[in-house]
Amino acid sequence: MKTILTGIRANSELTLGNYLGALLPMVRLANEHSSKMNVNIFVPDLHSIISDVDGNLRSNTIRTLKYYLAAGLEINNNVHIYRQSYVPAHSELCWILNCVATMGEMGRMTQYKEKSEGKASCNVGIFDYPVLMAADILLYSAEYIPLGEDQFQHIELARNLAIRFNNRFGDIFVVPESTVQQIKFMGVEQGIRIRDLLNPDKKMSKSTKAENSKIMLDDTPEKATKKIMSATTDSLGKVRFDMWAQPGISNLLVIESLVTNTPLADVTARWAGETRYGDLKKQVAASVSVMLADFQEKLAGISDEVVLKLLDEGEAYANKVANVKLLEVQKAFGLR
Ligand code: TYM
Repeated sequence: MKTILTGIRANSELTLGNYLGALLPMVRLANEHSSKMNVNIFVPDLHSIISDVDGNLRSNTIRTLKYYLAAGLEINNNVHIYRQSYVPAHSELCWILNCVATMGEMGRMTQYKEKSEGKASCNVGIFDYPVLMAADILLYSAEYIPLGEDQFQHIELARNLAIRFNNRFGDIFVVPESTVQQIKFMGVEQGIRIRDLLNPDKKMSKSTKAENSKIMLDDTPEKATKKIMSATTDSLGKVRFDMWAQPGISNLLVIESLVTNTPLADVTARWAGETRYGDLKKQVAASVSVMLADFQEKLAGISDEVVLKLLDEGEAYANKVANVKLLEVQKAFGLR
């Protein structure tokens, strides 16, 4: 049986970017395929500690998993939910893959370059992040990994490490599908990247300080509306989908399309040529408000116990599968 796998860090509240770029696509794919594919959803808590975390990581993890349920994830025997640090094979395989990855390819990782830029010092975890991510994927022979566009480079690394390892030791790892195939599988026209509302040249990110730059999943509809109404646009004065010339407006069109589940081409056609940017903003704010209110109501109805039970079952499953793959790898290197 094939496997779809995804993860979201639980450092803090999630943004609308996390929701539209990763959570929602995963839930849709899971519901569509879980009768005939394994669906692995995990929280990479070891990835969280590359940056400062408060003492709430464990409870944030439970809340993040509730998000999948609130977004409509249907549970059956093929859906597995677990925490990375509860499956030690992730760290073990990470170390082994460290001895397969090269400094050159790791130094080219955009996320590392962005996170270390201008800093006097940076922890080794930030540098090694993508290798642990490759271990997360390869342990479960996952072929499809629904992610936002910012993470595609890490999928390519996982593919390269798997291919390099297999060339040396035989077909031990399943090579994940290429990003082109991932996009096809997700059923989107291109990788999803929701932009920062104030600075639309950048992605919307939970680590950006300015509050109005990002919509958080716990924002009240009123708060989200204010943020959307103050989003940066441009002085061209006509709505057109053009990420380069009009990134702010294009970002609003993308959000409207994803939140209302309407093809981008239809949303773009509806608004093309409109000169009152305020009308588009009002429409997007209304759509996001409906989505948030509905999501938050569903979230309030999900108890910790439901998630803890799923984790118990999921972690037993994950350890079983991961340990089998780890042993194959250890044998290949002569460790066992
Ligand atoms: P994280 O928590 O940084 O991001 C979680 C997911 O949210 C997507 N995302 C966005 N999508 C669209 N627009 C945005 N503005 C935006 N911001 C974030 C990310 O692309 C991601 O899909 N490294 C992973 C966590 C991870 C993982 C894995 C995922 C660790 N190991 C193995 C899959 C498989 C990450 O980016 O988390």
